[in-house]
Amino acid sequence: MTSREQIIRLFRKRPGEYISGQEISDALSISRAAVWKQVEQLRDLGFGIEAQRARGYRLSESPDLLLATDISTELNTRLVGSQIHSTQEISSTNQLAQQMAAEGASEGLVVLAESQSSGRGRMGRRWESPAGVNIYCSVLLKPQIPPRQASQLTFLTAVATAETLKQHCGLDARVKWPNDILVGGRKIAGLLNELSAETEQIHALVLGIGINVNMQVEQFPEDLRYPATSVRIETGSVCSRLPLVRLLLQTVDTLYAEYLEQGFLPLRRRWEGLFDLLDRQVEVDLGQRTISGVVGGLEPDGALKLFLPDGSVERVTAGDVRPLGI
Ligand code: BTN
Repeated sequence: MTSREQIIRLFRKRPGEYISGQEISDALSISRAAVWKQVEQLRDLGFGIEAQRARGYRLSESPDLLLATDISTELNTRLVGSQIHSTQEISSTNQLAQQMAAEGASEGLVVLAESQSSGRGRMGRRWESPAGVNIYCSVLLKPQIPPRQASQLTFLTAVATAETLKQHCGLDARVKWPNDILVGGRKIAGLLNELSAETEQIHALVLGIGINVNMQVEQFPEDLRYPATSVRIETGSVCSRLPLVRLLLQTVDTLYAEYLEQGFLPLRRRWEGLFDLLDRQVEVDLGQRTISGVVGGLEPDGALKLFLPDGSVERVTAGDVRPLGI
């Protein structure tokens, strides 16, 4: 935890109270001058911190920031969030989570950032990541399953994100194979799972979740592939990200425990309940070529089954699906 987060934690424990600079300096083992510097930085981040010569500092206002210390308070999880790393700007939360995994981080690590300079999207695309408005989150898991089954966990993040948006924001969130979350046909969240494995063993599986929360229409780039939306656009009001992140992590935690105990089937059923394209005519952009056919559901490993016009069946493991007709 950074010194700034430790100071916020001290304030949170004693709401409304003044805490002397000396007490903060003793608690953090830093100099009084360093305390003052940290307080200045917290003010730059939007915290209202009053200072009185004889009494010390008091927290009077907090911005909507995703601080590890605030998330972990009241976080009711078994595994997910056992370590939380939150930061202001980062290249990509997925990239940092992978790096921390390579350096020995434990399963359950969560990496969050206020903005990403190189947010990664699917199929080598970029994920628009402006500061302070959205959720950019990566969860590190190390499931003891064969690497070929890792794609099943994509459905876990999709179900967790859609159910969280339903429960917390009242949105009718739906899933689009494999892992887009849509509201009213517009993309509100994207998921990118990244795997590091050997033939038989998973070293690290990073579940990357990007949710457009308070982003406004003018903040979306014009050349987006899909129509996009955000919680704020859909509900017409600003959404506090902190409870949303907590619920998201709790849902991932619950679904992961259920997956480890009961396997893919219950997760698959939940995902199918959120999927609108069964039996529909679709077009799938595979990168090099585009095919069209009728969606026949999921294969046991999570691939999309497509009935082609010539009567053959195609197993699609990666691609962009677009419904055709109405
Ligand atoms: C997509 O293309 O739909 C997937 C987007 C995934 C974006 C999230 S934001 C948090 C995590 N870190 C990244 O760099 N990407 C994922």
